[in-house]
Amino acid sequence: MARYYDEQVVQEIQDRLDIVDIVSETVNLSRKGNRYWGLCPFHQEKTPSFSVTPDKNMFYCFGCHAGGDIFSFVMKRDGLDFKEALELLAARAGIELIDANRNNKQVDRRKKVIEVNTAAAKFYHQYLVKNNYSTALNYLKERGVKTETIEEFNLGYAPDSWTMLQEYLFKKGYSQEFMKLSGLIKRSDRQNSFFDLLRNRIIFPIHSSRGDIIGFGGRVMGDSLPKYLNTPETEIYSKRKNLYGLFQARDTIRLMNEVILVEGYMDCIKLHQGDIKNCVASLGTAFTSEQALLLQRYTEKVVILYDGDEAGQRETVRAIDIMAQYGLKIDVVTLPGGKDPDDCMETYGKEEFLKYIQNNKISYIEFKINRYINAEKVLNLESKSKIITWLKKDINKLGSEIEKDYFIKLLARKLRLEENVVYREFATGINSIKGNKSRTNRDNIRYGNYSIEEKILAAMLFSEDIFLKIKNSIGVQFFSKQEYRELIEIYQQMEGTDTLKLGKMQKAAGERGIDAVLARIMVVNEDTPLQQIEIERFIKRVKKLREEANWQKIYRSLDKLQEEGNFINLLNFILNLDTFNHTQEGGIK
Ligand code: CTP
Ligand code: MN
Repeated sequence: MARYYDEQVVQEIQDRLDIVDIVSETVNLSRKGNRYWGLCPFHQEKTPSFSVTPDKNMFYCFGCHAGGDIFSFVMKRDGLDFKEALELLAARAGIELIDANRNNKQVDRRKKVIEVNTAAAKFYHQYLVKNNYSTALNYLKERGVKTETIEEFNLGYAPDSWTMLQEYLFKKGYSQEFMKLSGLIKRSDRQNSFFDLLRNRIIFPIHSSRGDIIGFGGRVMGDSLPKYLNTPETEIYSKRKNLYGLFQARDTIRLMNEVILVEGYMDCIKLHQGDIKNCVASLGTAFTSEQALLLQRYTEKVVILYDGDEAGQRETVRAIDIMAQYGLKIDVVTLPGGKDPDDCMETYGKEEFLKYIQNNKISYIEFKINRYINAEKVLNLESKSKIITWLKKDINKLGSEIEKDYFIKLLARKLRLEENVVYREFATGINSIKGNKSRTNRDNIRYGNYSIEEKILAAMLFSEDIFLKIKNSIGVQFFSKQEYRELIEIYQQMEGTDTLKLGKMQKAAGERGIDAVLARIMVVNEDTPLQQIEIERFIKRVKKLREEANWQKIYRSLDKLQEEGNFINLLNFILNLDTFNHTQEGGIK
């Protein structure tokens, strides 16, 4: 197969980059022995089934069977083709690709839009800072935003003009095509011209988790409406799939294994300013499952710190219900008197506020109990029973019996009921836990549960001696799976030492789309390498099975001949049996 890239470049990238580093950008990995484990980014799960083996430069998920090398990982994660992944990783490794940047239009376009956004952010920022635009600076100052924070979040100001941004971008050499794609300019209805979307507003650039500027939020400086204008959904920006501040917060989130989720841009930057650096904001949408997935890459624990007003509390319940599906551990802090985190920061100061958060953090189940109780006008038997029914599902979903017990007791206390009564209520009715449990188990069940074919294939690929031994005794056609036979075929085309061959195989397997199969086989050999004796036994068994199959064939032929009743034919067949038996070839199927 002709390839435009150089094998050496691929190898060099592999040598320079650590797969654990790359995967860690999006998956929270923890080390166990020689392997790293985390929650699979490619399917939903609660228990880690996703493993990375650094010395093999491979990943494999026991839950969804995704697997491959550093290139397949990036391709799958970012939805790239091989070339794009190569470009991305080459850049990371500091390797220049001569032939890169030619073909892929979509990547080029995305890049261009990001460039336009970056230039626009610079324009807004400079307008605020360099021009010392005092109205906006004063506004920010009054709201307690410090200069360092303006820098850290690259805040800016969009001047009160219909065209200044476009003109700036034109001068910088960006074409209108990409300005349009960025969503920063809009076509005017009446004239055939474009106007700047954001005018006379404080600008909050929105970064992707990787740090690219993908969109903007703009706030008016007074009370006029709409309070915020945001860039629309574009090729590179979707508010459902991003979180404001994640880029600035991601390292701390990973370190603390906890994220604080707020509603507003301002809340987010004020918490950062107050040294609460693990804070992100949802982007003016109800919290989405995409955002839950995104957070899950960095942390197991979320603290929801939404506004204290009714809307904020209602959104909290919605966010909880989404996050719980992703197995995130959720705590909630309710703010007093309808305040938002930014107000609290101003009122309490950072020390006090941090203390408030620590002291008022409750588990989401307790939050729900409180909320349901508060919503009822009177706590009579009927409403109590209703509340129990509501919470049963949440409590039953909890993994541990101790936790369940704890919350049943808490529920009893809050409802002023005998514990026994609540236990009895829980014992009746349908248990919603079942579906959930089996899924968790399915993810984990297969560790070490490898088929003999997998084990044999692994042993063969890891050692040429074993490969030859098997090939010379029973051939290599016995594998029941097409993919395994293909791996054998690839293996036979490779040259060099055992390790070298394996390295080269990854690429070839990738090209045929069977890199995940290879990744699994690699893990097999680490977990349960076959003993010599097991290999002998396997060879014997295959031989025996084949013999049996042969005899079956012979019996069938004899039966047929007998039925036909031609004695001469029958005799000839029996006389030829000996030769027939020795020349049989083929598989055990
Ligand atoms: N939002 C939006 N468009 C609006 C209103 C709100 O996109 N018209 C989003 C913004 O991301 C905003 C968040 O929802 O930050 C929360 O809204 P709100 O609580 O009204 O604003 P604050 O962030 O509290 O803004 P401020 O404190 O500056 O009033
Ligand atoms: Mn606010």
